[in-house]
Amino acid sequence: MKIMGPVPLKGEVEISTSKNAILPILAASLLSEEKKIIHKIPDIDDVEIIIQLIKELGIKVNYFDKSIEFNGSYNQIEPPFELVRQIRASFLVMGPLLARKGSVRISLPGGCAIGTRPIDLHLKGFAILGAQIIQAGGDIIAKGKLRGNHIYLDFPSVGATENLIMAASLAEGTTYIENAALEPEIIDLTNFINSMGGKIKGAGTNVIKIEGVKKLKETEYYPIPDRIEAGTYMVAAAASRGNILLYNVIPEHVKSVTAKLIESGAEVSESDKQIRVKGSDIIKPVYIKTLPYPGFPTDMQAQFMAYLSCAEGSSIITESVFENRFMHVQELLRMGANIKIEGRTAIIKGVRSLDGANVKATDLRAGAALFIAALMARGQTIITDSEHIDRGYEKVTDKLRALGADITR
Ligand code: EPZ
Repeated sequence: MKIMGPVPLKGEVEISTSKNAILPILAASLLSEEKKIIHKIPDIDDVEIIIQLIKELGIKVNYFDKSIEFNGSYNQIEPPFELVRQIRASFLVMGPLLARKGSVRISLPGGCAIGTRPIDLHLKGFAILGAQIIQAGGDIIAKGKLRGNHIYLDFPSVGATENLIMAASLAEGTTYIENAALEPEIIDLTNFINSMGGKIKGAGTNVIKIEGVKKLKETEYYPIPDRIEAGTYMVAAAASRGNILLYNVIPEHVKSVTAKLIESGAEVSESDKQIRVKGSDIIKPVYIKTLPYPGFPTDMQAQFMAYLSCAEGSSIITESVFENRFMHVQELLRMGANIKIEGRTAIIKGVRSLDGANVKATDLRAGAALFIAALMARGQTIITDSEHIDRGYEKVTDKLRALGADITR
């Protein structure tokens, strides 16, 4: 990805369906054998991989326009290794397969650039629901009839909450998940399962009650827009000193990003499904600590760091969710940023301007941080491994170009 800067972004951008909502919803489609239609599927690589995985399980998939229709039963219970290894979210099929088939064999998901990404909370929850868990040859094998129970999550893990909601939705009896994740994507997943006849209450609070049902039925569903894609374009507008209108966005879902942008001197105005962001010449330094929702999202940390690299003064960012999510710092330093890391805290001393450079995208959100930095920087930036960005940002090149960016792939 080659970007010439500095360019202020101007114009409008439509936010796509949420990657982190659609991935668990696609996994949850395995809970029912009847017809499910899901609309506004984003054209991003992670979704392609999950759909490929569902096809490999033997399910008929019709893809028309941006809608997808699943039908029929399946008998495979071993998702293919090479697909599971490609994206962690494929681990979310474990709950549905265990609930539907009473047995599943799945490879341990890979770690990734931002951390080891353990799955202990998922496995502990499945065991509490009655599954027998064995680890063999890099795979996890889980067997057993699931019965409702009380699960307390040591950490409000998004993936563990999602996997356990899916498993419990077909278990015998009632399950309570305590210290559950509060993310909007959890609410969207439970709305999807309830639209198939599920009986889940309390999503969006830290105690979720799931009454197991015998069968889940057909449905048609529209998932929520992507709050992290929205946050990314909001920061890009402020960082490039531009002025853009985002539509198909839920302002409630990006409250913490809006608050921090206003604190740093940007102008943010909201209406029901639109947000306008106007950057200011002076970027004020801010303190950020990433936290589970509704705290400041870890998925917005790298993008905000790029923005604050040109603030008037020093900012502090503490990454409290993942243990190794500062891979973008090395690359921002190559562009002239002044950042020091102390453990899980980064001190960003603002510089007057960044300079274009050759940099590397190490993961999805680090890649987004680099295109934001490139929009701010003087001269040409080349981002290699930019396919990381395509995993979670639909038509990113077209959307940035439509906003005035001088960008080529
Ligand atoms: C989801 O990942 C998102 N991915 C991530 O977005 C996001 O960063 C993360 O939630 C936190 O918000 C999807 O929704 C597909 P977690 P997930 O389980 O479920 C520890 C992006 O850029 N943990 O809430 O894997 C874990 O190590 C991606 O879109 C355990 O210790 O996140 C981490 O430190 C990146 N044991 C913390 O919890 C477990 O069993 C948060 O992980 C599970 C997690």
